[in-house]
Amino acid sequence: CGIVGYVNYKLNRSRKYVITTLLDGLARLDYRGYDSTGLLVDGDETDKVLPYKIIGKVAALKQLINDEDVDLKKVYTTHAGIAHTRWAANGVATLQNCHPLRSDVSWRFAIVHNGIVTNYKKLRTQLASEPYQWEGETDTEVAVKLAMHLYDQNAGIGFAELACTLANKLEGAFSLLLKSVHYPGELIAIKKGSPLVIGITSQDTQQMSSLPVSYHPQRFVQNGEAIINSANSTHSVNGTSVSEPSPMWAHEYFFASDPSAIAEHTKRMVFMEDCDIAHVHYGLLDIYSIGSPDEAGYGRPVQTFDHLDGSIPSKGTYAHYMQKEIYEQPEIIEAALKDRLDVESGKIDFQGLGQHMDRIRTCSKISFIACGSSYYACLAMQELFETLTNVTVSIDIASSFLDKLSHISADVAYVFVSQSGETAECLTALQYCQKRGGFTIGIVNVVDSSIARLTHCGLYINAGVEIGVATTKAYTSQLVHLVLLALALGAGNDSTHDRRREITKGLQRLPEQMRRILTLDSSIKELCETKLMHKANMLVLGRGYQYATALEASLKIKEVAYIHCEAVLTGELKHGVLALVDDNFSVVMIATRDRSFERSLNGYEQLLSHGGDPIILCQEGETAFNISNGHCIEVLETVDCLQSVLNIIPLQLMSYWLGVLRNNSVDFPRHVAKSVTVE
Ligand code: G6P
Repeated sequence: CGIVGYVNYKLNRSRKYVITTLLDGLARLDYRGYDSTGLLVDGDETDKVLPYKIIGKVAALKQLINDEDVDLKKVYTTHAGIAHTRWAANGVATLQNCHPLRSDVSWRFAIVHNGIVTNYKKLRTQLASEPYQWEGETDTEVAVKLAMHLYDQNAGIGFAELACTLANKLEGAFSLLLKSVHYPGELIAIKKGSPLVIGITSQDTQQMSSLPVSYHPQRFVQNGEAIINSANSTHSVNGTSVSEPSPMWAHEYFFASDPSAIAEHTKRMVFMEDCDIAHVHYGLLDIYSIGSPDEAGYGRPVQTFDHLDGSIPSKGTYAHYMQKEIYEQPEIIEAALKDRLDVESGKIDFQGLGQHMDRIRTCSKISFIACGSSYYACLAMQELFETLTNVTVSIDIASSFLDKLSHISADVAYVFVSQSGETAECLTALQYCQKRGGFTIGIVNVVDSSIARLTHCGLYINAGVEIGVATTKAYTSQLVHLVLLALALGAGNDSTHDRRREITKGLQRLPEQMRRILTLDSSIKELCETKLMHKANMLVLGRGYQYATALEASLKIKEVAYIHCEAVLTGELKHGVLALVDDNFSVVMIATRDRSFERSLNGYEQLLSHGGDPIILCQEGETAFNISNGHCIEVLETVDCLQSVLNIIPLQLMSYWLGVLRNNSVDFPRHVAKSVTVE
């Protein structure tokens, strides 16, 4: 899920401006989920709000607001709004569960929320004696009702104190924005686990040099309990004069789960830390910490992120982002190699990460942690790391790493691989490692994402913004950067010199080979039309380096084509899976030449002997298969450990065309999110 918030002060913005700001921010966040969207802005009277919600994406919400008879020209001196795009995790995608959620029918408190409040059942039981009308079952509703409850129980409580008390009571990993008609023009943000950033602008450029961020570690906390201070309770009303606590104020504050959602408006941002509560009131921003001294112990600087680009790339001449991103791959790999690799000397330039190579080399183990496709990228390169680095390598899916309560050691390098840098389980695993003294490294695509900021050091894969939910260009960029990392770690080892040289040369040829493989596009489309699009089940077989390719291809086919597709290690075929093979079952076998090739042939024979009719992905000119029916995808040959970069391309195209031919939402498949920000 993704959240956006906005509040201005003395700026006389129109309602249209506020709504547009929220909608544009949401559009930039829909990689975090797009089952339903909603927003809420101030109403015509101070005790009224205007909520809008819809099952569907941001464009549908925009249309809904356009269709309503809303006075978009209405101008306020102070105006606040909150917005949300949801990936249904706790409750199905209904309007009832769509955020913002309300405390009661008159919307005294409204909330948008990303993540999970784990103790919500207990809290709900505690509120059971209250005459509250519950509208659903979600943790979010408990949080917003609890806010109202605290207000009613503590006469005159200030919004910040209320928020600190609320934050103390809510357990879990989440971030939220809270708005209330009792505190017009004010906004609360709470961060515990899930990311939240605050953007700040002022029209007074002089003022920008000393922005009004006040940081108050532990201000409202004593013995772990929030202190309620009912004396501090000045409220303002639009149009009514208020006592300004300081002559300094900024004009606008933006809140978002990710800086790119607000980068269009400002590059000056404060990243909230865990257990921070931010309170905007009368143009002032106060940040309180209710965390441990570790979390609270330093300031909250306003940083400038000039490189951030909030714009959404266009599809250009392509029909879908996924198609465009598949076609971008050769250029991206070419640029990465140009940036990082000196082919003559074999030297690799990792900039910042370069300083940490000696430490990684002396680690007793490299532990890769990732989810989804990023996990498959690690799996594809496990053997290469083991051969080039002489260091033990383990690879874990982030959720399983946490389930196992993995032991953390100071002499292990924990490498977090993630396209988005925001996947919740990776973030939790990262925090788990860091709390126990682990040395952490990030390999991410999204600049300044949470993993990039929180790890000790890292590497950007520079694949550019990837919009298609099914990753393509980020996957091949991960593969190539992992190869570069393995080469860099192995540098200086005489026994692997020739192997490293062979790989370096292979890398150099890759972009051109990728371009040639893309010319298979129309034949793959035809194969999908004639053989695959009506199948209900598929198998992708691979072994050795290509098992990871089979896993990645099968994930692509599932999520884009909505066809049940299993990846099977070719050697395992005979141990049960063969029973599935019949006319309705399509099999794609990856059988490019490497040291597993002869064994792959056994699998091929076993398939033929039991009536199978596999599509073979093999090297150009391959004669080992008796293929007369066009069931063949020929790719160029490269070094074994690089072959997966080439082999995945026709399979990406296959999933793409299957999705298109089956009329699926190729860029934004149903039920999934590009980045899953809840565990
Ligand atoms: C989601 C996406 C997958 C992706 C995985 C990990 O489940 O749907 O395509 O591979 O998250 O994402 P990350 O951003 O951490 O690489």
